[in-house]
Amino acid sequence: VERTLILVKPDGVARNLIGQILARVEAKGYRIVALEQRIADADLLAQHYAEHVGKPFYQPLVDFMSSGPVVAIVAEGHRVIEGFRALAGATDPTRAQPGTIRGDLGRDWGLKVQQNLVHGSDSPESAEREIGLWFSGR
Ligand code: GTP
Ligand code: MG
Repeated sequence: VERTLILVKPDGVARNLIGQILARVEAKGYRIVALEQRIADADLLAQHYAEHVGKPFYQPLVDFMSSGPVVAIVAEGHRVIEGFRALAGATDPTRAQPGTIRGDLGRDWGLKVQQNLVHGSDSPESAEREIGLWFSGR
């Protein structure tokens, strides 16, 4: 079975949405196989967001992601990578469809697109890499 890395970002934790987000993942039938709340340091985030280093939104993204605790989750299920991204909705919460996490729970933060509640790995290679980063030894 496939695995993916999900992050509840600092806005999701601050807004008490961990339970609602996990409930959607579990309702879809995915199994939670690891879960940890932590504050990510710059080093971990630089590795996690390596593909975005140098982009204009990189520093605001890293600042935001280290502004408070995040919940890192490994979820397992048939096609969970694609399936969780469908549950999450479009990157920009103002464009995300109703019925998705970002569409239902995301707020209009103006230019702060990074405050979109969740992260989900985007490919099997990303999932393996990211699970290794956040849960070393698993
Ligand atoms: P993740 O699941 O978090 O990886 O989202 P994504 O795959 O939908 O987006 P992507 O990997 O392209 O970007 C990673 C994160 O960077 C996004 O979730 C946003 O938080 C942030 N981000 C992406 N594009 C922009 C942008 O144009 N402006 C700002 N401010 N943030 C962005
Ligand atoms: Mg991404």
